[in-house]
Amino acid sequence: MTYHELYVYAKSRLSDYEAMCLMEDIFGIDRLGLAIHGSDIPESGIEFMTAIEKRFSGMPLQYATGKAYFMGRQYFVGEGVLIPRDDTEVAVDECIKFMTGNERVIDLCSGSGIIAVTLAKEFPKSEIYAVELESGAYEYLEMNVKYHNANVKLIHDSIFNENCVDGKFDIIISNPPYIRTDIIPDLQNEVQYEPKTALDGGNDGLDFYRCIAEKWIPKLKKGGKIILEIGEEQAKDVSKLLEMQRITQICVVKDIQELDRVVFGTMKK
Ligand SMILES: C[S@@+](CC[C@H](N)C(=O)[O-])C[C@H]1O[C@@H](n2cnc3c(N)ncnc32)[C@H](O)[C@@H]1O
Repeated sequence: MTYHELYVYAKSRLSDYEAMCLMEDIFGIDRLGLAIHGSDIPESGIEFMTAIEKRFSGMPLQYATGKAYFMGRQYFVGEGVLIPRDDTEVAVDECIKFMTGNERVIDLCSGSGIIAVTLAKEFPKSEIYAVELESGAYEYLEMNVKYHNANVKLIHDSIFNENCVDGKFDIIISNPPYIRTDIIPDLQNEVQYEPKTALDGGNDGLDFYRCIAEKWIPKLKKGGKIILEIGEEQAKDVSKLLEMQRITQICVVKDIQELDRVVFGTMKK
């Protein structure tokens, strides 16, 4: 089948927008390319047809194409790793504001590596660490760090083992699992494709924040920053956990939908 025939078939199964996303991600061809090369026959036609069927059956578009985008960079994704969300930009933006370029930073629960890779690419002289436990996610973390040639030190371990890395940090940043266990089955269908281990924050959704507060804040240098992505109803509880560990100047930042999305603060000097 030609590019044009494949595109017409994709549009019969999916929306025009998604058909075009698949054309771009799998063939690297946009509307203009399609107009010019429409009658050519691509080599990866079978991969394209498989992606259409996966998406048609409800799989998230990013898993069907194997690619996702975050702050202008492309990442490899697949079942086993959380699909990057634009919401996470709020935490990364705050972190970038605090950085000058020679900080020691750790990204806890790194997943596909979007946070660590962005920081390493923006500040190549900083010392950036990424911790991820789940092998399915860690594979993508490794792949994305390599693909971007990012200067990130990888740690395949649980954040519940705070001894997996030595020394103190200028910045601790994390987007940990934070959804209450009981509401996970009610999340929309597409989210059900994503690993539960990336979502499940325990009975009250706060297990990972408690771990970070108790085990990781003591590894923050005086004057260091902690930046945590949170669920929209968690600002109060997470702020309290930080306060209990001598974190001051605690602030809550909202996302573009005006929902609480990040809590950050400073380690007492
Ligand atoms: C909400 S996802 C965030 C991924 C990534 N930081 C992002 O923003 O897209 C949480 C991640 O924590 C990882 N994770 C779960 N339990 C962990 C643990 N005990 N130690 C380290 N990572 C863990 C999951 O595998 C998942 O990749």
